[in-house]
Amino acid sequence: MKLLVTGGAGFIGSNFINYWLKNYPDDFIVNLDKLTYAGNLENLKDLKNNQNYKFIKGDICDFDLVNELISDKVDLIVHFAAESHVDRSLMSSRDFVRTNVEGALSLLDAAKNNGGVRFHHISTDEVFGDLSLAGKAFTEKSPYNPRNPYSASKAAADHLVRAYYHTHGLPVTISNCSNNYGPYHFPEKMIPLFITNLLEGKRVPLYGDGKNIRDWIYVDDHNRGVDFIIKKGKIGETYCLGGNGEITNIELTKKILKLMDKGDEMIEFIEDRPGHDLRYAMDYSKAKNELGWQPQISLEQGLAQTIDWYKNNRQWWQNVKSGDYQEYYKKQYQGNV
Ligand code: NAD
Ligand code: TYD
Repeated sequence: MKLLVTGGAGFIGSNFINYWLKNYPDDFIVNLDKLTYAGNLENLKDLKNNQNYKFIKGDICDFDLVNELISDKVDLIVHFAAESHVDRSLMSSRDFVRTNVEGALSLLDAAKNNGGVRFHHISTDEVFGDLSLAGKAFTEKSPYNPRNPYSASKAAADHLVRAYYHTHGLPVTISNCSNNYGPYHFPEKMIPLFITNLLEGKRVPLYGDGKNIRDWIYVDDHNRGVDFIIKKGKIGETYCLGGNGEITNIELTKKILKLMDKGDEMIEFIEDRPGHDLRYAMDYSKAKNELGWQPQISLEQGLAQTIDWYKNNRQWWQNVKSGDYQEYYKKQYQGNV
């Protein structure tokens, strides 16, 4: 099988490619990635000599490029490419609409033009919006209620994917997954930011009162879920994936501090994120009952593995944290940490 993976130099996409070629070494993967600040070919260094892997630097919004790549006998498109950070979407939203909405449309059109190529769209639990403490976890039937520019752009793409199924019969599936963590996670997101700050002897910036809740899933569990949907999912359907990992940010921070032998004095409470969603949680019963998928890595195990990875891969994150990142960090944290 030949796959076109978009955004395969990013966090989840690179873990996906590494996972896929380990499990299906006879498949061929073309990785199309623009290499924005979040894309990093170091994530794929182990594939340098792999004959079944090819990297193309390019933009998913470039229809001619995307069409040409897909016309070369692609059997399956797995679409990860996106602008992915909520805080950046609050600073400037234009790239989010361009890549997340127009880019998805360009891929859908090219998939349609080439005889209806199987399309799996990677989406997020954030499209469902804010959950109260007493609210039931999101399911595939939850209404869409995105509340920040990132989640709004992802929701728009989900709707386009479904529209191409209903109007053009494009064979699509969608996965909406909760917060991922693991190796190669860009240190602008909470877990890798906190781990690397602590490794640098810096404090960790916790928004508001730290009582917001996320449902953390180890990245390999997410990618195994995507694999199950590709292999066994029903065309036209959406599957929610979650990690059984609901925890408040403050509790999670304390777990990280403990695993890294640091005290609570390393926490710096800072001004809250505007429009900060209180809680996300996923009910993955459909994926469990229909596909036999469930997460296998507990938060304790995944966190310990992730901390070890950052300890053993200093060069990777020190490179990432240099250059433009410094500007972002200064602007976002205003000298507080
Ligand atoms: P990331 O920011 O680490 O990686 C995104 C990748 O997309 C980068 O390699 C970047 O260079 C590439 N890219 C951006 N714009 C592009 C364009 N116009 N053309 C081609 N490539 C482009 O993101 P991630 O955390 O790996 O997320 C991957 C996908 O998973 C996204 O669609 C995101 O919405 C979704 N998702 C993420 C999470 C999470 O917790 N990180 C959870 C659920 C769903
Ligand atoms: P993040 O990793 O940005 O993912 P998302 O916003 O997509 O859920 O943030 C996870 C949680 O951590 C979220 O509630 C915001 C919070 N957070 C902080 O408290 N401090 C930070 O510096 C960051 C980046 C996030």
